Amino acid sequence: MKTMSELGVQVPASVSLVRRFVKSASLEQRETALRQGSYNLFAFPADLLILDFLSDSGTTCMTDLQWASLFLGDEAYGRNKGYYILLDAVRDTFERGDRALKLINLVRSGDTDVDGLLDQLYLAAHQGGFVNGGEYQLMRPNAFLTPQGRCAEYLLFSTLAQVLRETHGTKQYWIPSNGHFDTTEAHIVANGIETANLYQKGATDPLTLEQIETFNPFKGNMDCERLEAFIQAKGRAQIPMIFITITNNTVAGQPVSLANIEEVSAVAARYQIPLFFDACRFAENAYFIQRYEPGYRDRSIQSIVQEMFSYVDGFTISFKKDGLANIGGGLFFRDQGTFQQRFSVGEDIGTRLKEKQILTFGNDSYGGLSGRDIMSIASGLFEVVGEPYLQSRIGQTHYFARRLAENGVPAVLPAGGHAVYVDMDRFFRRTPNRPEDFRGIGLIIELIRRYGIRASEVGPFSFEWDQKTEEQRQGILSLVRFAIPRNLYGQEHIDYAVAAITELHKNEHVIPKMRITRGASLRLRHFQAGLEPVYEPGAAP
Ligand code: F0G
Repeated sequence: MKTMSELGVQVPASVSLVRRFVKSASLEQRETALRQGSYNLFAFPADLLILDFLSDSGTTCMTDLQWASLFLGDEAYGRNKGYYILLDAVRDTFERGDRALKLINLVRSGDTDVDGLLDQLYLAAHQGGFVNGGEYQLMRPNAFLTPQGRCAEYLLFSTLAQVLRETHGTKQYWIPSNGHFDTTEAHIVANGIETANLYQKGATDPLTLEQIETFNPFKGNMDCERLEAFIQAKGRAQIPMIFITITNNTVAGQPVSLANIEEVSAVAARYQIPLFFDACRFAENAYFIQRYEPGYRDRSIQSIVQEMFSYVDGFTISFKKDGLANIGGGLFFRDQGTFQQRFSVGEDIGTRLKEKQILTFGNDSYGGLSGRDIMSIASGLFEVVGEPYLQSRIGQTHYFARRLAENGVPAVLPAGGHAVYVDMDRFFRRTPNRPEDFRGIGLIIELIRRYGIRASEVGPFSFEWDQKTEEQRQGILSLVRFAIPRNLYGQEHIDYAVAAITELHKNEHVIPKMRITRGASLRLRHFQAGLEPVYEPGAAP
């Protein structure tokens, strides 16, 4: 008789606690809402949707332990309990590997040993890692909680630009990455620094369904040769930092291998340039390493995460992804590391960052978050590295991509961690996909109108193809992204999405081109601009 694993189906990793019924809006009602919202995807009322794949950010269905943690937080203005618990959870997650202390359990168990709490949690003085403790955090702040990831980006890049201006006047600087996320890029550019996306070529090269069973090419990797050539061409002094985004959201959510992280870190060390992670989806990235990179099969996710982070000098993170939380972010950097040393000119960089944090988001104890939310993040960090969770999470994404590919829809293979990306250059078979027609948006408009399904565009509209130089255009892919909220959907939801996308793929003539009616040159225009669909004769609804 077959065992659980021999049954040939995914063993469920969770069960639902809460149900929400979807409303049955009509095609006409959705059309009206689309028109009134200037066909802007972000302006469509979510309540009228059946499935929402716009983002995996903050859309997580929290676990019972996270909901319980909310009650354990407190709302003190200075040093709420969760502050200590979360900072120690950060050390557990990114530094301690298999030797996590899980001090959250002291709070969960209602521990009343005050000496123990003081020793382990409230007065523990330590330094040299991503989170200074006790008085060291006051002397050299290096851990910053923020409301979400982009607030950490704002703190980092605005402060960095200020230091560069003060020390070197106005010069041109670049921050290269394997793929900056749109807000990351926008923050860098808003501070007068330029970006370069140096991901490996071949991100959308087709792979067969057979190949992806056993093999992952880590398409999110940085192209190290290009990186080194870039540093030499621009000059080491013009490159304040290097970023690696894990997983690489801009490049179809693809993972980065540990070999690549090590190689980039060697390049960064050679030129003494601080290397940072954009760490939003660190656990998903670690799962890919465990599953597909030679030598990691027997390693725990925790120890792989520890190894990944041992190569970097700091990281920004949105806890709305692999914090399993609905809100939260942070900035952390290595005490007395390359970043701190290079940019503590005149004044400690951490002190400058903290001043700005207090001015904008609130003091460092809460950084714009409520005490209960802080607790839910700490709890989430322990759950997100669970192997059954990750297996079911990545398994669902891969099921989605596989079903699309079986139906002939050009999903990027292998699928990444948090989303299925469909390649628009191959989706439109009868008519060429001209970037300026923004037909990725057209596809999403039809998905919303006809089937109540929303996705996002990661392509020429969002990355402002028409506003970019020829060189920058090379870094823009043409993708539609179906980002899957964590712990929310089951197979029936995915099957419905696959059926709807397949139907539109078969009937590509009904998908309109999109024309920008307002706000073409606004920054982050995908949140703001107005559009209108231009249908082929006879295809208009
Ligand atoms: N970095 C990456 C790689 C991201 O994917 C995001 C957000 C951020 C930074 C910013 O974090 O939203 O908390 O401010 N990505 C979401 C998405 C919005 O849909 O991909 P945030």
